[in-house]
Amino acid sequence: MCGIIGIIGKSPVTPHLLECLKRLEYRGYDSAGIATLESGLIQRHRSEGKIHNLQERLKTINPQGHVGIGHTRWATHGVPSERNAHPHATEKVAVVHNGIIENFAELRFMLEQKGHVFTSDTDTEVIAHLVTDYLDHGLTPQEATSKALKQFHGAFALALIFQGHDDLILCARRGSPLAIGLGESEMFLGSDALALAPLTQKICYLEEGDWAELSRETFTIYTAEDLPVERPIKETFLTGAMIGKGNHKHFMLKEMLEQPTVMGDVLRAYSNPSTLAPSFPEFPVAAKDIKALRIIACGTSYYAGLTAQYWIEKYARVPVTVSIASEFRYGKPPLPQGGMALFISQSGETADTLAALQYAKDQGQMIVGMVNVPESSIARLSDVVLETHAGPEIGVASTKAFTAQLMVLACFAIYLGGHRNILSEEESKKLFQSLMEVPEAMAHILSEENTVIKIAHALSEARDVIYMGRGTSFAIALEGALKLKELSYIHAEGYAAGEMKHGPIALIDEKVPVIVLAPSDELYGKTASNVEEVIARKAPVILITDLEGQKAFEGRVPLSLSMPTLHPFCLPLLYAIPMQMIAYHTANLKGTDVDQPRNLAKSVTVE
Ligand code: G6P
Repeated sequence: MCGIIGIIGKSPVTPHLLECLKRLEYRGYDSAGIATLESGLIQRHRSEGKIHNLQERLKTINPQGHVGIGHTRWATHGVPSERNAHPHATEKVAVVHNGIIENFAELRFMLEQKGHVFTSDTDTEVIAHLVTDYLDHGLTPQEATSKALKQFHGAFALALIFQGHDDLILCARRGSPLAIGLGESEMFLGSDALALAPLTQKICYLEEGDWAELSRETFTIYTAEDLPVERPIKETFLTGAMIGKGNHKHFMLKEMLEQPTVMGDVLRAYSNPSTLAPSFPEFPVAAKDIKALRIIACGTSYYAGLTAQYWIEKYARVPVTVSIASEFRYGKPPLPQGGMALFISQSGETADTLAALQYAKDQGQMIVGMVNVPESSIARLSDVVLETHAGPEIGVASTKAFTAQLMVLACFAIYLGGHRNILSEEESKKLFQSLMEVPEAMAHILSEENTVIKIAHALSEARDVIYMGRGTSFAIALEGALKLKELSYIHAEGYAAGEMKHGPIALIDEKVPVIVLAPSDELYGKTASNVEEVIARKAPVILITDLEGQKAFEGRVPLSLSMPTLHPFCLPLLYAIPMQMIAYHTANLKGTDVDQPRNLAKSVTVE
């Protein structure tokens, strides 16, 4: 996490630094800061909290420097405060950093012994002091930085400016993404291409271990061994227009409402409209030869993977294992020769998912990346990329990117099932037709705001909430609980309905609302028995089901949301919607920051 930006411009860079930082705010919003060179001297301006605070402070100062770096922080080492805000600097160098310098404590000790005085609790400050130490010994900025880089353990994307060098920015990448943007006698760098989109469409990504030297007219990239290297320059199609909320109160609301349209876009991308058959890029291993599939992801993307496990095992008969990316490597899992590993990630930059991908690559797996950002690191490292086509998602809690992942995965299950001769053409078409009914059904659910607001009122006073479901509804229950806790800060857990009796039922009393996802499918009878067990223990049940499912509980549950009846295959896509709406409206009632919940970031680039 953390967003970094650097500009060597023809005019004062502060307004552009701030604009780009705003576009990176999804990466963290604990503090923000910039450093510019004013008559050759480093000037720093930092503020705790969101970029807005920094913007207000800079109104009166109005820095004039033509070279500068900026940062928006998600705190790792040191509390969110002004003294811990980036850039960190000495008189000679200022640095912004995304990542963690794992050996900072020993470097700091060594530098303090030499007389360096530290003013923050961060790991980053050692970068500024170590580079300064080498500058003090007469090294050039390039020599000093290259030497220092070799001493850092951990992950980083860095940008540095130097006293007296107003045509120079140095930057480096190890583990965290960094893109150079090419202008007309101007040069830019940023954590992603979206941040640079208002300034340039010409982008050159640093590769793992690279560092680079930027001036207004040119740039040179070096490998970790200091050898000059060429990296391709790409045109991006990202728009420079700041993505707006329209008339909506929050990005999250706007993004929730976009889902019916996004579903249509995904269906168009992964199907052949004339034959009603799924259409996917060619995979290096034929579908019929896939022995096993490993799905790896974090957070909401992980729950998309869990849902897909039910689909792919049932409809394509491929054994699927789903792993949390941050845990995946620790058992050193043996991966089968010719196996497929699918990495699901909205951002395509999540550090844990990237580390897992590297492990799977080293084990000779075919790497499939399912991402919403086609320029992302995961996309660039994958053998096959499945784009989710949700469009930029700004709200930190994932909504449309999640349902877009589900839609691609549903199409993928049909594709695999068909190519493995598990599904007949007729069965495939039937499943596909059910997916085509999703956009309209979603739009209907999104219009049920009044019932959801009543549910939100019931939840807003609760301390704990339980979500439960069976089969794919279990996966969606987990996602529902995550949404509620991240947005409203109410403790919530999702359970497999059948697992309640093995422990969680002990939590239940009249103060713990239980949200039950119970479509009237083949599992309904068993889930209904679990609902009876919960009602018997006096929990207020909130039932999410169709008209048929409501009948058995008429007048016996305080609240119920009526859902459309479609083929069970596509129901996870529909039941995901009330999960989002409930969390959104509960958070709204509680007055929490819906788009930027406390302590979170949208793109998590540290392990
Ligand atoms: C963060 C976000 C979540 C997201 C998760 C995984 O925690 O707040 O919304 O699901 O990261 O991110 P990814 O970009 O890999 O899907």
